[in-house]
Amino acid sequence: MSATERPSGQQQTGRDAARATADSAFLRACRREPVPHTPVWFMRQAGRSLPEYRKVREGTAMLESCMRPDLVTEITLQPVRRHQVDAAIYFSDIVVPLKAIGLDLDIKPGVGPVVEQPIRTRADLERLRPLEPDDVKYVTEAVGMLVGELGATPLIGFAGAPFTLASYLVEGGPSRNHEHTKALMYGDPELWADLLDRLADITAAFLKVQIEAGASAVQLFDSWVGALAPADYRRSVMPASVKVFDAVAGYGVPRIHFGVGTGELLGLLGEAGADVVGVDWRVPLDEAARRVGPGKALQGNLDPAVLFAPREAVETKAAEVLDAAQGLEGHVFNLGHGVLPTTDPDALTRLVEYVHTRTARSV
Ligand code: CP3
Repeated sequence: MSATERPSGQQQTGRDAARATADSAFLRACRREPVPHTPVWFMRQAGRSLPEYRKVREGTAMLESCMRPDLVTEITLQPVRRHQVDAAIYFSDIVVPLKAIGLDLDIKPGVGPVVEQPIRTRADLERLRPLEPDDVKYVTEAVGMLVGELGATPLIGFAGAPFTLASYLVEGGPSRNHEHTKALMYGDPELWADLLDRLADITAAFLKVQIEAGASAVQLFDSWVGALAPADYRRSVMPASVKVFDAVAGYGVPRIHFGVGTGELLGLLGEAGADVVGVDWRVPLDEAARRVGPGKALQGNLDPAVLFAPREAVETKAAEVLDAAQGLEGHVFNLGHGVLPTTDPDALTRLVEYVHTRTARSV
């Protein structure tokens, strides 16, 4: 039972809550243990698909919202209350730690992160100083508040992976072809490696803050890494992602690794140090499991656009995902990428209920 539905006067102690969280379907699935039902959460579950989100965000810029613990807590809890998902994801953005070290960037509505002065030279690197926990006190505070509110529901912390962050920094904003990023990667491998190494340290520090404040899992979003061929990923990107995963390995919290268009990279994404590999909708989960190999759980992978189809079609497609997941060691149901902003929130609520009902079993 989550804090939001707990009857008043019945206070769980912190230790009971921590035990219940550790025993949740989500964390059990990440650890590849038997589950009472397949756990479900959605990337971008907090956000524009929810009218209550649009209402509380009115008049407050995206990055400013991320720095207000009261708003972060409310927005993070909204999809948990509404959809009964099995995990909350901390409301923030991948560029928050970069803003916190003083980079001049903003999130433009309908566009995404925009960086005033792109990072392309050795001198530019100096602007990427290390992240200290004090730079993001609001994160520590908000995670603490959330863990208290969430009861048994686990909180997922997250960060952008070095490649995806580098793509925004080098391009100066969202990019279809990542041409400046690749020009730097192929043209000046040494500068590229130093850039990714600095980003790895910032990312690791940001994940540590969230874990130390109480997050019970973390997801590394390497959303745009599918733009790379496996050999380039292994040579030019993987070492930085490995550094991030290694830095948080000691906490024992599950580490999820996600990217889009990563069919050819799935094995390497697991090898980088993930406990759970996120899969987009292009590769069925049974095939993804063969590519990832043993010892990992998988997360995914319903096409977010399917939610625009009639209910019966959504259920048919969700059933296909669940059928492909039958033989997996652990499965966390999710979309293959984030919830699209114009998605009907009721379709998401019905999907959670469908997955829970269809997979209910006794452990
Ligand atoms: O999943 C969640 O509910 C948690 C919130 C979350 C946000 N951004 C909030 C947000 C998460 C996990 C992210 C991560 C993020 N940000 C990624 C990786 C995930 C992915 O989708 O691949 C990336 C690539 C970004 C960069 C970014 N920030 C983009 C592309 C956008 C969308 C631009 C737009 O307006 O269409 C943002 C802005 C952003 N981040 C919004 C939200 C809710 C929309 C801003 C708003 O509501 O005004």
